[in-house]
Amino acid sequence: MTVLVTGGAGYIGSITTRLLSERGFDVVVLDSLELGHRAAVTDVPLVVGNIADRDLVTKTCKEHKITDMVHFAAYKAVGESMADPGKYFDNNVTGAHALISAATDAGVSNFVFSSTASIYGDPDIVPVTEEAEVRCESVYAATKRMTEQILEWYSTTRGLRSVSLRYFNAAGAASDGSLGENWRYSQNLVPHVMKALLGFAPALKVFGNDYPTEDGTGVRDYIHVEDLAESHVSALTYLHNGGDTMMCNVGTGVGTSVMDIITTTERVTGRTVPYDIAPRRAGDPACCYGNPARAKQVLGWSSRRSLDDIIASAYAWHSAHPEGHATQA
Ligand code: UD1
Repeated sequence: MTVLVTGGAGYIGSITTRLLSERGFDVVVLDSLELGHRAAVTDVPLVVGNIADRDLVTKTCKEHKITDMVHFAAYKAVGESMADPGKYFDNNVTGAHALISAATDAGVSNFVFSSTASIYGDPDIVPVTEEAEVRCESVYAATKRMTEQILEWYSTTRGLRSVSLRYFNAAGAASDGSLGENWRYSQNLVPHVMKALLGFAPALKVFGNDYPTEDGTGVRDYIHVEDLAESHVSALTYLHNGGDTMMCNVGTGVGTSVMDIITTTERVTGRTVPYDIAPRRAGDPACCYGNPARAKQVLGWSSRRSLDDIIASAYAWHSAHPEGHATQA
C-alpha cells in the first residue's frame, strides 16, 4: 500500500510522513511548497503541485499506485479566513473536493483527513465529545466541517472510507529536533512563547486573564505533534482493517491554561518568559479540551507524551531553527 500525504512538507504533515515511513508505509508527498518547505521532506518522493490540480492528482495516484491518502494541505489562519473567506473556501473546500473526487476516481479507498476541534466553537460542556453540537465560529472551521461532510457523502455514494481527525492544539516538535513549526506562519501560543523566550519578540501577549477559568487565562488541550502523527497511523490501520467512515477527537483530555504553559516553559527551560496581559482575542473560547475516549476505543490510540515533552521539543527546535527550515542548523 502506498500513501499520498498532501501538505507533507508542512508542520504536522512532515512529522506524520516520517512516522509513516518508519512504520513501513510507502509514502509520496504532494505539496505546493507555498507554506511547506522542501527540506522537511527527506527520503520520500515529493510532487510539487496543488491539490486542486485534478490531472496532477490523477497522474500521481496512477504513477505511484496510491491506495491511501492523508490530507493535510490547507490554510489554517483563523483571522485571515474571516478577512479573505474566498481564499479559504477555494483552497480548503473546492481544492479538497477536487482532491477527493480525483482520488476516488483513481481507486483510492482509504482517506484520513486533518480536521479541527475548532468546529465545536465555545463548547457548553468540557471535555467535549464528538456528540457536541457543531458551532463553527470562523470560516476556517466551516471549511473543515464542509470537508468532513464531503467525505461523509463520498463514503455513502462512492464507498470512499475515511477518518476525520478533529485535532485539538497541536504543539511541540520532532523529538530528534529535526522537524518543527516556523513561528513566522503561526498564530499559536507555543511558538509565540518560544519567540518571546528566545528574544525574537519583545514579550508574549497573554490574550485575556479575566476568563471564567481557574487562573483567568484560556484553557486548551495541547497535544504533542508526534502523538498527533501516531493517530494518523492508527486511523490508516483502522481503515485497512475494514473500519467504517467516522470522525473522532484527537486530544489528551487535559485542559492547560496559558499561565500553565508559561510556568511549565520556565521550569523546563530554566529561562524567563517575558509577557504582558493583553485584551482577549476576538472569537477565543474560554475553555476547550477534548474527550479522547472514541479515539482510544475505536482506533486504539491515546496520547503518550507530556506537556514537558511538548515544551522541551519546541524549545530545542526553535532555538536551533529560528527561521524554521530555512535556518542552517
Ligand atoms: C487556534 C484556532 C483554531 C485552530 C488552532 C490550531 C482561533 C480562534 N482558533 O486555536 O481554529 O484549529 O489554532 O491552528 O484562532 N494565546 C495567547 N497569546 C498568543 C497566542 C495565543 O494568549 O500569542 C492564547 C489564546 O488566547 C488561547 C491559547 O493561547 O487561549 C491557545 O491559542 P492558539 O494556540 O492560537 O490556539 P486556539 O486559539 O485554541
